[in-house]
Amino acid sequence: QDRMYKEKNRPQFHFTTRRGWINDPNGLIYHNGEYHLFYQHNPYEKEWGNMHWGHAVSKDLVHWQELPVALFPDEIGTMFSGSAVIDHANTAGYNQGDTPAMIVAYTADSPEKQVQCIAYSLDNGRTFTKYDGNPVIDSKHKWNSKDTRDPKVFWYDPGNHWVMVLNERDGHSIYTSANLKDWKYESHVTGFWECPELFELPIDGNTNNTKWVMYGASGTYMLGSFDGKVFTPEAGKYQYTTGSLYAAQTFSEMPDGRRVQIGWGRVSHPGMPFNGMMLLPTELTLRTTKDGPRLVNAPVKETEQLFASARQWTNLTSDQANELLNEFDHADRLRIKTTFKLSHATSAGLNLFGQRIVDYDLNPNTLNGVFYSPEDMTSMELFADIYIDRTTIEVFIDGGAYSYSMERKPESNNKEGLLFWGNTITIKTLEVFNVQSIWE
Ligand code: FRU
Repeated sequence: QDRMYKEKNRPQFHFTTRRGWINDPNGLIYHNGEYHLFYQHNPYEKEWGNMHWGHAVSKDLVHWQELPVALFPDEIGTMFSGSAVIDHANTAGYNQGDTPAMIVAYTADSPEKQVQCIAYSLDNGRTFTKYDGNPVIDSKHKWNSKDTRDPKVFWYDPGNHWVMVLNERDGHSIYTSANLKDWKYESHVTGFWECPELFELPIDGNTNNTKWVMYGASGTYMLGSFDGKVFTPEAGKYQYTTGSLYAAQTFSEMPDGRRVQIGWGRVSHPGMPFNGMMLLPTELTLRTTKDGPRLVNAPVKETEQLFASARQWTNLTSDQANELLNEFDHADRLRIKTTFKLSHATSAGLNLFGQRIVDYDLNPNTLNGVFYSPEDMTSMELFADIYIDRTTIEVFIDGGAYSYSMERKPESNNKEGLLFWGNTITIKTLEVFNVQSIWE
């Protein structure tokens, strides 16, 4: 596509910006045949600051085209995180004929405070006009805190009103509105930090049996119920993913009802004219487990077009597998699917140049240091789907029951490439895929 995308440390199947800094995905929405990815962006520096909303579009969630900056700082502040909706019923009055407005809600940040604002677009997100009555929420005083930000807005059909989830001080607040301009405070759930989400999901695909999910920026979530004004959590706060993912958001207006999210990958890109990246788009579902319903996070089916199976083996010892994997040691992008079984070992895993990309320990029941208890606790098996790109590694365990992501360490740290370890383990299945670049 572009010479710019060929630099040495440019991820090849994850979105990065041509130049400058990126962090949170913002305003994720599907509209008129395009997926929109807006994002926190400093167009002029590789460091965080002077926040704008950058913009990219895609027809398939996988190949992205970067467009000009969508939101610029103004006299109220710089452009912090937020979300996007389509105003089908013209509640805010910006629609033009048959063209419904795309409306974004974002935070304007200034040294003094953080306030919530809206802007609308009638040209598919290419240009935005800010509401002349901004800000629409100014709540610093109420919370005696500057931390009031990251509005996530959605339409609540049963109540015929808009809902905004907003990070305020120590948790997520809920506001309601009829027109996206006048907002009423309703309730607050403590225990979250930044970039709120709130959405309903069927359990095991049964739309008659649903739960609401609330999450914050770091991969923790609660399940509960929602009546349009109050989210009532059930016992427990869980973690569906750990590592470099931060500030994920889900798409509005998905044509097929899927709940698809993109998270920011907090990894560095040494020597590059850009910094920060987006992790793979994933679908969120609720699956019944031995502990009750839990959030499952797995790459969307659209990503499959990038992978071509190169080798497939079954029932290998680790020595055999390590020998066979030699030819892939230096691949700058790769996908590996494997199921391995522990027998006389309490821990086993897979390294890449000394970096522990899978590190499973049966004794404290941990995966890369985090508690993980597989569905079948006696099988001693683990299924890992591993995505390796130039600067990042994403791992999805047992179909996305647990996932984590990390920075990929440089090869110079160690001489060994891909290396299974663990005493007398069996590699029951091993499949290696070549990966197509999204920039070609
Ligand atoms: C999360 C965050 C948000 C904020 C944005 C600023 O990474 O701190 O809370 O809106 O980044 O760039």
